[in-house]
Amino acid sequence: MAQKNLSITILLLFVSSSMVLGHESPNSMQYPLVVSTWPFLEAVRAAWRAVDSGFSAVDAVVEGCSACEELRCDGTVGPGGSPDENGETTIDALVMDGTTMEVGAVAAMRYVKDGIRTAKLLMQHTQHTLLVGEKASAFAITMGLTGPTNLSSPESMEKWNKWKENGCQPNFWKNVKPANSCGPYHPKDVSSVAELTEVTCSMSNRLEDPASNSHHISLHNHDTISMAAIDKTGHIAVGTSTNGATFKIPGRVGDGPIAGSSAYADSEVGACGATGDGDIMMRFLPCYQVVESMRLGMEPKLAAKDAISRIARKYPDFVGAVFAVDKNGLHAGACHGWTFQYSVRSPDMEDVQVFTVLP
Ligand SMILES: *[C@@H]1O[C@H](CO)[C@@H](O)[C@H](O)[C@H]1NC(C)=O
Repeated sequence: MAQKNLSITILLLFVSSSMVLGHESPNSMQYPLVVSTWPFLEAVRAAWRAVDSGFSAVDAVVEGCSACEELRCDGTVGPGGSPDENGETTIDALVMDGTTMEVGAVAAMRYVKDGIRTAKLLMQHTQHTLLVGEKASAFAITMGLTGPTNLSSPESMEKWNKWKENGCQPNFWKNVKPANSCGPYHPKDVSSVAELTEVTCSMSNRLEDPASNSHHISLHNHDTISMAAIDKTGHIAVGTSTNGATFKIPGRVGDGPIAGSSAYADSEVGACGATGDGDIMMRFLPCYQVVESMRLGMEPKLAAKDAISRIARKYPDFVGAVFAVDKNGLHAGACHGWTFQYSVRSPDMEDVQVFTVLP
């Protein structure tokens, strides 16, 4: 009798473990694969065409992000969008090879529209990781990309003029005077205890101020394309491109070109892409955390949620999202403060599919 029970138990164990295997095996066939923040369908299709016809994961994310730069996805990628306080558009981009762990990135690049192609040239032809500003533009032009180019558009100029007419509101300053008009700005004196208290109060007010909040929440202020690709050989790469936050202080660099923040990849584990309030997110390196959590065995959904909730505990009003994809192609997203969408193209799909993640 006891022996019979034992054999039944063994049979059940066998059945349940093979069910688990049966569930996982289709997943291991889920590449080539492309995952991207937001419904940037044409960008994902461009990356898919590359990776499906045998190009590397690096080439795929470069083709995908480059398509978004050309299409000016949502006005926040490529030229012609997100003017800074001086009305200028600059470009941030990154590419990372998850097999060699090489990274190429450009930040606050002026006069050249091809962000991710410059990042790739930096990764493949130099030993550096990050170039900034006009020196990044000079590198890009030396390496054969088009420039110097005027990155402004009539739309970005109009947006900037309206913002100036509105007393340069909203903006990214705090604890300065003047508070409600254009600069130049100067630090508010914070030397006395009384003023220090006042500053602390006004900072917490700032977070609740609907005007400044809507500034941060606006979808069109903070999108980045962050894309991951797994190629036919199982190699993983990530890429990002953005023209940054609208009305940023000139010289500001967000999370876009920061490896581990906007994106991270390790072909042995998987990849992550992020979007949102880059000034806050880059303090937490959420994509590095997602990949390292998956390395320790966490599934993508939990790894994504964990990285987002770590930021939310410190900044309850932050707006952001990540997607996580493991090396088998299992993917998930997590977000805070807004509804997030990410796009996927895998061999079993007819076309790109958009997944919606609620906060
Ligand atoms: C750049 O382009 C914008 C928009 O078309 C235009 O308003 C501006 O004058 C141009 N700047 C230069 C230096 O040509």
